[in-house]
Amino acid sequence: MRPRILFGLCLAAASEALAQEVHSVGNIFRPLGDSADSVMRLSVLTLVICAAIFLVVAGLLAYAIVRFRSRAGDDGTEPAQVYGSNQIEIAWTVIPILIVFVLTMSTARVIAAIEDKRAPADAVKVTVVGHQWWWEFRYPELGITCANELHIPLNTKAKPQYTFLTLESADVAHSFWVPQLAGKTDVIPNRSNKMWLDARETGVYLGNCAEYCGTQHANMLIRVVVDTPEDFEKWAAAQKMEAAGDGPSASRKTFLSLNCVNCHTVRGTPAAGKFGPDLTHLMSRQTIASGMVPNTAHNLNAWVRDPQATKPGNLMPDMQLDEQQVEQVTTYLSSLK
Ligand code: CUA
Repeated sequence: MRPRILFGLCLAAASEALAQEVHSVGNIFRPLGDSADSVMRLSVLTLVICAAIFLVVAGLLAYAIVRFRSRAGDDGTEPAQVYGSNQIEIAWTVIPILIVFVLTMSTARVIAAIEDKRAPADAVKVTVVGHQWWWEFRYPELGITCANELHIPLNTKAKPQYTFLTLESADVAHSFWVPQLAGKTDVIPNRSNKMWLDARETGVYLGNCAEYCGTQHANMLIRVVVDTPEDFEKWAAAQKMEAAGDGPSASRKTFLSLNCVNCHTVRGTPAAGKFGPDLTHLMSRQTIASGMVPNTAHNLNAWVRDPQATKPGNLMPDMQLDEQQVEQVTTYLSSLK
């Protein structure tokens, strides 16, 4: 009886998690954006052609194995050998050329259609900067900078909304990939790459860095939060504000007295570092450490105490803070709504 109750509880917890509409990572077969749609249609066409080739080749092979297997009473001589059949040679040259031609042309057409899309006047523009191992999202027209969680407005027939990304890197090559929204685009140092996104369901879409970029490549996660246009406006308005903080408190004083300010920005305070994520509205994010752990008081405290314990190799050093400093910095960060 007990295990059954436990199982029921797990199911309830699982369905609650589903209610938050977190779209699974890697599911390219359930696209929810225009760009991902065309990538999937092309993938299906390619898979169907490859499956047909496989069936023909494997079928002929199986037929030959069964039909021409050695039998009792064989006299040991080879069957008649065929040399230089023009028909067969033309067939196995022309058919593959036609298949490759069809695949090439349909791929080129999809790539061109995606790359040639012009940004509508009301498109949201975001500069994405890949860092080891987190993502910086800047909205130059809105004056917002945030990290790891990209907010975009919902695309509907009534109000089409597209987000155009300019991808840059602060260090090494990364790749931006949210499978349900669009194909991958590499993020290359000293280069600006472009891509665009849209989503037709609200919720959280998961993605990750798709180019090996060092120790914590696997934990360079992306969360795209798709809001209704009203929620997006509200979010943008809140992000534009300077840090609320908790006034001239002891915790604020402690934070500003530490080396945190050399790497992190908290708008409205002297903290203006650019190396690490902008912390102005840290508490508006669902996760910390680039999507690795939920943004809870416990995880934040553990991170401030020793970031290397949560995410070994990450570029934030262990600041060797004493117990009181850890508490005060955590308190201050928790006030950054
Ligand atoms: Cu960034 Cu892999």
